[in-house]
Amino acid sequence: MSKIHAAITAVNGYVPDYILTNQELETMVETNDEWITSRTGIKERRILKGEGKGVTDMAVPAVEGLLKKRGISADELDLIIFCTSTPDMPFPASANILADKIGAKNAWGYDLQAACSGFLFGLATASQFIESGKHKKVLVVGGDKMSSIINYEDRVTCIIFGDGCGAALLEPNTEGYGIIDSILKSDGSGKPFLHQKAGGSARPATHETVDAKEHAVHQEGQAVFKFAVTNMADVAAEIMDKNNLTPEDVDWLVPHQANKRIIDATANRMGIGSEKVMINIERYGNTTNGTIPLCLWEWESKLKKGDNLILAAFGGGFTWGSIYLKWAY
Ligand code: UT7
Repeated sequence: MSKIHAAITAVNGYVPDYILTNQELETMVETNDEWITSRTGIKERRILKGEGKGVTDMAVPAVEGLLKKRGISADELDLIIFCTSTPDMPFPASANILADKIGAKNAWGYDLQAACSGFLFGLATASQFIESGKHKKVLVVGGDKMSSIINYEDRVTCIIFGDGCGAALLEPNTEGYGIIDSILKSDGSGKPFLHQKAGGSARPATHETVDAKEHAVHQEGQAVFKFAVTNMADVAAEIMDKNNLTPEDVDWLVPHQANKRIIDATANRMGIGSEKVMINIERYGNTTNGTIPLCLWEWESKLKKGDNLILAAFGGGFTWGSIYLKWAY
């Protein structure tokens, strides 16, 4: 029997209705549309409004739409991996909350935390369950309600992030389509540059941590930028070399959407033109775990069976990596 690959057989996404524009941010912090656009490429981002709403409230419509497209019911799912840095609550896992909401009665699940690289780590992890023959239908969800951990008085971070969620279904394929290779990396020494100070076991929530806004993202932008721009470009080039792919062989780059300048640098390093790069950062900003599945969702109708896709991400931790996959439909 030929090798089993884990192929994406359906994708879907969901973004909330509320649009936070650069113009509205100008009324909140000392910033301007020109600065944000030239430094990041972002024009607007979506915000999930509503008391008590969490990341699973975006995952439900994304996943229900995915199941409908694929023509299967939730109880056919074997496993749900929910990649997020903003789970509904510290526990239980958002994967379990989602499973309950959509009626995935036969699935087990867990959350995966790798900041902005989470969806790539999730795909790579999920593919092992498919390739081994253990499971037939694994759902990988990537999403974040970043607005829940943003300090809207901090102009360096609040202009970047947005809310959104996407999902992909992985199934076995023996015709050579699906995930072919992955390179994943972590470097914990990146912690000082991008983290959330409080709310974990080392610094639980207190009145002081709340007053000091330590439950919000802390990012030292320039330092992160330097690591991101080098490592995301390098790892994308590395997976091309490893698989003997020329720029002509690559049909699409699906990059994490953190900063348009990082995306452009990655495409340059790979030697591919901008027409092959999925970019929606201008409309959604950085949705952390949501960026890559939201791109796949928006470009789904343009993708052809056999297309070579390179997915690449860089995130807090630091975490980074790339995946090479052949589109299966
Ligand atoms: O997704 C996870 C990984 N994260 C990333 O990959 C993010 C990587 N970093 C970045 O994308 C960029 O570093 C930022 C977009 C966060 C910042 O851009 P930058 O070009 O690195 O700006 P900077 O932090 O070096 O700041 C340049 C100037 C400073 O002023 P001075 O000191 O030169 O007078 C800032 O105070 O821009 C100022 N500034 C702003 N001005 C207007 C910082 N934020 C703003 C703002 N509006 N929102």
